[in-house]
Amino acid sequence: MKIEDARDIDTPVASAVSSYNEWDPLEEVIVGTIGGVTIPPLTREMKVMVRRDYWDFYRKHAGEPYPEELVKGAARALDNLQKVLEDEGVAVTRPDPVDYAATRFRTPHFESTGFFNADVRDVLLVVGDEIIEAPMALPPRYFEHFKYRSLLQRYFERGGRWTAAPKCTMGQWMYDQDYPEEHLAYFRGDPDIPDDVGPLVGQYMTKEVEPCFDAADFVRFGRDIIVQRSQVTNELGIRWLERHLGAEYRIHRARFRSSGPVHIDTTWVPLGEGRVLTCPARPCLSPEIMDMFQRAGWEIHEAPEGVAPAEFQLSSRWLSMNLLVIGDERVVVDKHEEPTIKMLKSLGIKPVLVDFKDHYVFGGGLHCATLDVRRRGGLKSYFD
Ligand code: NVA
Repeated sequence: MKIEDARDIDTPVASAVSSYNEWDPLEEVIVGTIGGVTIPPLTREMKVMVRRDYWDFYRKHAGEPYPEELVKGAARALDNLQKVLEDEGVAVTRPDPVDYAATRFRTPHFESTGFFNADVRDVLLVVGDEIIEAPMALPPRYFEHFKYRSLLQRYFERGGRWTAAPKCTMGQWMYDQDYPEEHLAYFRGDPDIPDDVGPLVGQYMTKEVEPCFDAADFVRFGRDIIVQRSQVTNELGIRWLERHLGAEYRIHRARFRSSGPVHIDTTWVPLGEGRVLTCPARPCLSPEIMDMFQRAGWEIHEAPEGVAPAEFQLSSRWLSMNLLVIGDERVVVDKHEEPTIKMLKSLGIKPVLVDFKDHYVFGGGLHCATLDVRRRGGLKSYFD
């Protein structure tokens, strides 16, 4: 990581950071980098991220780099995305790759090696002119925010507000040691999950001991922000953000029929003002959320299932609905996702195609691997 000297800090600037929702015209975006990504240790709590059929592989190779061809493929996918966005007139910034993820680190509360994937959306939350570093909830991700340090410093120099939510300890007391192991890696998105699986009965792998959240469990609709209690975001974390943002914002808790919720952006995804995608395998279980959208006249569309010929180690196939809306009725979508492309066209939305499927293996789609820093438009209410 290199942090250059600050420049021009005495010249006042209008904030380069300004984004209130997921669909206003996109002007500047961070696209992640994959370099340095490392196989994380398969601690018990990490099992909520890793698909069961890969547990042996992760056990055996913890702390090693991922196979080179996978990393190269993902790096190409991210470069493809940068090019497509620049061709659409969006300014793109990229973090430096890291070279220390395999280094064993130690805090007073745990030891681990890193992970460091390209999913900037998991780590940082932009609300208006503020970039918030999420505390995260899994030990290999403890230092992941450092990957963005030099970029954050630049955005700070360019007028953005920069906040770090309190880090949690990630000590073992944060995790429910009685959480049934056979429930940890349920295939996320499976519609036939048993009725007693943890999240459906209010039980999660993270306990309510310290606030924790990943940024990707929040989805922004102007003054209204929807959040799900997930395996990595607890109620205390939600309250921290609620109090931090104050009365200008309303945080709404939504529940979905999901066996292992981790990040909301394959579950409830806005396509623009007045239109949201819902995952048919994870229907919304909160009548008040359905009411809120229906009363305000929002259309709720079911996403078609993903079809990209990709490998999935860290997510479900629903990365197909993890779209990046760039405004003016344009949505970036992986070029292999024919059913999704067809659906977008049927809604009068222009699909902007990118070859991105080789990033899916690292658990992130187009929304995960990006962070909108600036969108044209201000703070509005879409539900009053
Ligand atoms: N955990 C989610 C991915 C979120 C981007 C899923 O597996 O669908």
